[in-house]
Amino acid sequence: MDLKGRNFLTLKDFSPAEIIGLLDLAADLKEKKKKGIPVDIHRGKNIALIFEKTSTRTRCAFEVAAHDLGICTTYLAEGSQIGKKESIADTARVLGRMFDGIEYRGFEQTLVEDLAKYSGVVVWNGLTNEYHPTQMLADMLTIREHFGKLKGLKLVYFGDARYNIGNSLCIVCSKLGLNLTLCAPEKYFPNKALVDECEKWNQESGGSITLESDVDKAAKDADIIYTDVWVSMGEPDEIWAERINDLKPYQVNAEVMKKAKPTAIFMHDLPSFHDLNTKIGKEIGEKFGLTAMEVTDEVFESKQSVVFDEAENRMHTIKAVIAATLGNNF
Ligand code: CP
Ligand code: NVA
Repeated sequence: MDLKGRNFLTLKDFSPAEIIGLLDLAADLKEKKKKGIPVDIHRGKNIALIFEKTSTRTRCAFEVAAHDLGICTTYLAEGSQIGKKESIADTARVLGRMFDGIEYRGFEQTLVEDLAKYSGVVVWNGLTNEYHPTQMLADMLTIREHFGKLKGLKLVYFGDARYNIGNSLCIVCSKLGLNLTLCAPEKYFPNKALVDECEKWNQESGGSITLESDVDKAAKDADIIYTDVWVSMGEPDEIWAERINDLKPYQVNAEVMKKAKPTAIFMHDLPSFHDLNTKIGKEIGEKFGLTAMEVTDEVFESKQSVVFDEAENRMHTIKAVIAATLGNNF
């Protein structure tokens, strides 16, 4: 597999074989990390990490992965000129002169595409409004570790399915042959053009996408139950009331888990409002009389929950993406 020089902007651009290749490389890098085998094959390289939205997992995963590969990182967030005093096109051309690769987390997908277009170096999408492709690799690695396979598994996603996680699940599941059910009120379904685009990959992989508003039907026989926050980064606070009203019936709780297979796992990209032990969780919970939002604490803390395996796998999979796109010389 030669991915040298390829941008990682959305999994639409990668074949099923390439995605599986990245998962295999991640699994290998994970094993090497556990055994303490060095993998600093990219010594002397430098990468820039741009975060226009907050992050714990993605930032740490990029930093740790880069350091393990022998790469130096520069973090750019508040305080950079991007978008305020300097356009993305100009920023891209400056960074392209100094760095071997650039990670970008921010708003529209067009911004990360422009970075790739103007910088002339490899660009990785660390989350945009539309897509979160590195999260998908971590999720698929976690599922494969747990079940030993991907094809034919039923993954049910509850919540806003029109945003980065819902859209990206459509792409990765159809490429890799999972049966994806997106469960939400109709207005939260992904746009038809994306679902239609995924249809051609489903035909090749044997996967499927089902849009369903009935929780019982959706959860029945699920292998994986997945949810995400009801309000994403960058969305206005005023939207909380409407989201809670619309998505409360789609909360993942013990009742929902009972409808899935007894062997089902619970997944969440994180961070999660599963209790009131966060500033926003407390404020919103008290205002709307909730003790949890998209998932109850009981499910989040249960044996079925693999959310911290998923979080760890962000690092191993991001390491695979960096290693491969900068030229994997193992
Ligand atoms: N899942 C995820 O992207 O987490 P962060 O927002 O903490 O990076
Ligand atoms: N949909 C969430 C994902 C966070 C990793 C957001 O965009 O905030």
